[in-house]
Parts: sequence; structure tokens; C-alpha cells
Amino acid sequence: MNQLIESIRQELLPHLQIESLDPHDPVVVRQLSHPWQLLGVGNYAAVFCHPDYPDQVIKIYAPGRPGLAEEVEVYRRLGSHPAFSECLYAGENFLVLKRLYGKTLYDCMYLGSPIPRQVIQDIDQALAYARNCGLHPHDVHGRNVMMHEGRGLVVDVSDFLHQDACSAWDDLKKAYYWLYRPFLCPLRLRIPYFVLNFVRRGYRFLRRLTAFRT
Ligand SMILES: Nc1ncnc2c1ncn2[C@@H]1O[C@H](COP(=O)(O)OP(=O)(O)OP(=O)(O)O)[C@@H](O)[C@H]1O
Ligand SMILES: [Mg+2]
Repeated sequence: MNQLIESIRQELLPHLQIESLDPHDPVVVRQLSHPWQLLGVGNYAAVFCHPDYPDQVIKIYAPGRPGLAEEVEVYRRLGSHPAFSECLYAGENFLVLKRLYGKTLYDCMYLGSPIPRQVIQDIDQALAYARNCGLHPHDVHGRNVMMHEGRGLVVDVSDFLHQDACSAWDDLKKAYYWLYRPFLCPLRLRIPYFVLNFVRRGYRFLRRLTAFRT
């Protein structure tokens, strides 16, 4: 672990540029040095891996994006559970997390990979476990959940201390049972990223509209 921390500080961080251009869109990564690889991006952070450390990932928060300390606390409360990652080390602006293998449900839609019901049930159970740990599942959307060998995983728990209600996972489940299983899945449709982004933005717009009305 010490060697990994040293290479993060000496090889990864000095050249890396992460920018959050719009707080509602994923961050943008520039100047990534070899052999580090970008695994994924969220609206707050970018996640990298190194071929010599196959079981760890490095989550680096974009400058000015808060939430690192909260994420550490969430992982402390979760302990060890097969559907969640674990926090192995916390730096000033980065975390070393246990790597979860698989693809996000968002990417499954793009690739046309069938998502079995077991994946949804596993995630439901994992979220129930998190509630038992005194947490509040929040922001559980298609980029924050993954599928691996037919099982479901939760890859991003950073907002689980927020107490306000969040219907993202319930809405995603509705879309799964009402839209995906009967129509999209049998057709084996691959959904291009621009359509997925359109749905993501439309969903956020609708949420804001209904929040405004209530
Ligand atoms: N432990 C992990 N193992 C493998 N891949 C991961 C891991 N954590 C994150 N990723 C990948 O990196 C992406 C971004 O990470 P994450 O969702 O934690 O960032 P975020 O900025 O907090 O997201 P959000 O916009 O939902 O707040 C994920 O969608 C996933 O593809
Ligand atoms: Mg995320």
C-alpha cells in the first residue's frame, strides 16, 4: 500500500488535471500519465487504476468538489459487504478504494448487455444493509451501480449521509420493470450515449419540476 501511495503522489497527481466544468455533468480528465488508466468519471471525481495494483482504484476529487470526508465516514459505517467497495486509504483529495469489477448499468444499456433481475435484487438488499448501518441511500443511479457475473454492486456511496429523501433508485427500478424488461431487453437494443445523456438530463429536469411543485 505504501508503494501505491508513493506512486499516486509522485506519478499520478503531479501531471493530472481534473476539471468540473458543470456541477451536473461528469468531470473532465486531462494529462493522464502512462500507465495509469481512467476507469470512470462522476460529477465529483474521476477514478483511476494502475496495472500493478489490480485490486485497488484511486478516486480523485475535482478541485472545489466537496464530500471526501463524508465518503470515508460512509465506508467506515458500512464495514465489509460483498456488494460495496471499501476505503483503504484517504489522502487530501484522493481515496484508495477496493476495486469492484463489472460494468455500470448505464454502460450495460449502451452495450446492450442483458441485466437480470438478480442484479436489481442484490442492489435492493445492499441498500437495505446500508440503512441498517444508519445510512440513507442517496443518488443511486445507473452510473453508481454495477453488474458483475450476474450480481449487483453499488459503486458510489458518497451521498449516503444525506438525510433528505432521494427517489433515484426507486425511479430506476420502475423504469427497469415497466420499460426495460418488457420492451428494451427482449429487443436487445443498444442505447447510444447521447440518448442516455438526454434521459439523464430530462430526468433531472423532471425531478426539479416536481420538487418545485411539492
Ligand atoms: N471501487 C470502484 N471500482 C471500480 N470502478 C469504480 C469504483 N468506484 C468508482 N468507479 C467507477 O468510476 C465512476 C465514478 O465514480 P463515482 O461514481 O464514485 O464518482 P462521483 O463523482 O462520486 O459520482 P456522482 O456523480 O454519482 O456523485 C463510477 O461510475 C465507476 O464507473
Ligand atoms: Mg457516481
